[in-house]
Amino acid sequence: MTTMKRPTIAVLGLGWMGAALADALIREGHDVVVWNRSAAKSEPFEGRARRPATVLDAVRQSDVVMVCVRDYDASDEMLHTPDVSAALAGRTLVQFSSGTPQRAREAGHWAQESGVDYLDCTMSAGPQQVGTDQGTFHYTGPRGLFDSLSELLTPLVGTSEYCGEEWGYAAALDFARLGTFTGVLTVLGTVFALMRSEGVSIDDFLPTVPFLSPEFMKGVVAATTADHYPSGTATLTTWEAWADQFVVAGREAGVDPRVAEVIRESLSRSIRQGHGAEDIYAIFSAFASAAGPGE
Ligand SMILES: NC(=O)c1ccc[n+]([C@@H]2O[C@H](COP(=O)([O-])OP(=O)(O)OC[C@H]3O[C@@H](n4cnc5c(N)ncnc54)[C@H](OP(=O)(O)O)[C@@H]3O)[C@@H](O)[C@H]2O)c1
Repeated sequence: MTTMKRPTIAVLGLGWMGAALADALIREGHDVVVWNRSAAKSEPFEGRARRPATVLDAVRQSDVVMVCVRDYDASDEMLHTPDVSAALAGRTLVQFSSGTPQRAREAGHWAQESGVDYLDCTMSAGPQQVGTDQGTFHYTGPRGLFDSLSELLTPLVGTSEYCGEEWGYAAALDFARLGTFTGVLTVLGTVFALMRSEGVSIDDFLPTVPFLSPEFMKGVVAATTADHYPSGTATLTTWEAWADQFVVAGREAGVDPRVAEVIRESLSRSIRQGHGAEDIYAIFSAFASAAGPGE
């Protein structure tokens, strides 16, 4: 009886999420190849994974390539060179970087034309949830490909959900989720500033918003009294890159982008105030002054 060789997996991009994916794959006993633009982030993988110097070598050494970088522009910069595209042909590519539904569709069509087996993934999870029984990853692409990779993908997160063959679906679902989350935080930043100005207490406010879960509001209230917001997940800079795409996704869908623009501007303002490496709740610093946004 022949045993099937387990695939070698390349992880390109070793930020918060890429490093968590690579760690989870190594824990599962996979032969892993890692690459990051700035080499320092691949150093912790010394002795645990192969560390080729170039993207091309990483692709050539692997069967499945997982990409987890800032956005699709960064991903295209790495993958859409003649050499790397040629090396990807006949291999499997799983895209974990965030992008608009339109970019996911373009990537799907590029993969089809280039002979690359392609899945697009959105991650409804933070790095601490990767490799645990928590969080959800949503995938789009060919059903047969998703099923054939289930042994590889299932241990990466609590739930691996297949969303169909419409390339942009998971990305659109993720914008709905994160747009709601950041939109609620932006409105709360505004109303908390108003409440501060008018002397309204949080304790009086909370019972008036039963549609916001007590668990969610507990985190929010704690964040409003913090003066710094250490990040163990996505930084405000990553959220700003996501918000850029949220604005574009709205425009591409013919939706009024103004709400997305306000969310993005609130994130950008907090970053200009020096909170770029901090957690999403640092968005409240954009509303610190009751008098107005300011700088
Ligand atoms: N963190 C989360 O909780 C979370 C959750 C869901 C989805 N995501 C998504 O996952 C993706 C990665 O997020 P992250 O939190 O891991 O970000 P991160 O910690 O800021 O890491 C960003 C990664 O992108 C790389 N990169 C940026 N521009 C590049 C370029 N032009 N060429 C090559 N590499 C480039 C960086 O390389 P350098 O080290 O060289 O800068 C780094 O490896 C993003 O699309 C994000 O929206 C994140």
